[in-house]
Amino acid sequence: MPSKTPPASTMDMFDQGPKSLEELNALIERAGPLVPGATQAVFGEGPVGADVAFVGEQPGDQEDRQGRPFVGPAGQLFRRALAEAGIDQDHAYLTNAVKHFKFEMRGKRRIHVKPTAGEVKHYRPWLMKELEFVRPRLVTALGATAVLALTGKQTSVIRARGRAVLAGFPGYVTVHPSYLLRLPDEESKRAGYEAFLQDLRNIAHLVNADPETGELPQAAQ
Ligand code: URA
Repeated sequence: MPSKTPPASTMDMFDQGPKSLEELNALIERAGPLVPGATQAVFGEGPVGADVAFVGEQPGDQEDRQGRPFVGPAGQLFRRALAEAGIDQDHAYLTNAVKHFKFEMRGKRRIHVKPTAGEVKHYRPWLMKELEFVRPRLVTALGATAVLALTGKQTSVIRARGRAVLAGFPGYVTVHPSYLLRLPDEESKRAGYEAFLQDLRNIAHLVNADPETGELPQAAQ
């Protein structure tokens, strides 16, 4: 029987030390999804040295099909809110804690399944490396999975919402845009969106910190 060399574990590949974002993404692509099913890895998008990196949970159905982050319904809501809050998407980096879509079939529909803490941990070294390459001025966690990925701790977003230190960067915690879509009625949707917009405005204010000293203003929480 010809013996097949087993694929290098993700940590082995990580230890080879990617020298750039492109090399890192190539490693992630080569590793493939931890849970089978995804069409492709969905990488972060945006410039190195971005004003702000936004970290979501994991790609959804549309992101998996198109190979781009935040292009489905929650992503469209998010991009609309960014524009409304005056955050230039050309200066923002959008990425996810987990790089592959996980789902279950309901009829013909692929329904998103939240990643486990173990799955988040698996992808975490890659996210840390990614942020090291991107070097954003500020990192924003969108929802609890991103907070877990960035801090290693399970934290309630309600409690952590506002300024934070995330993965060693000045940071900010807010809700995930898909939470806004799940709110039960028009009034809570409107209030939820307003509060999210206020967080994004705070973030816009924070990234305008003194470029000389790098000091962040004491922004409103
Ligand atoms: N939700 C996420 O967390 N990320 C995406 O890219 C899309 C939806």
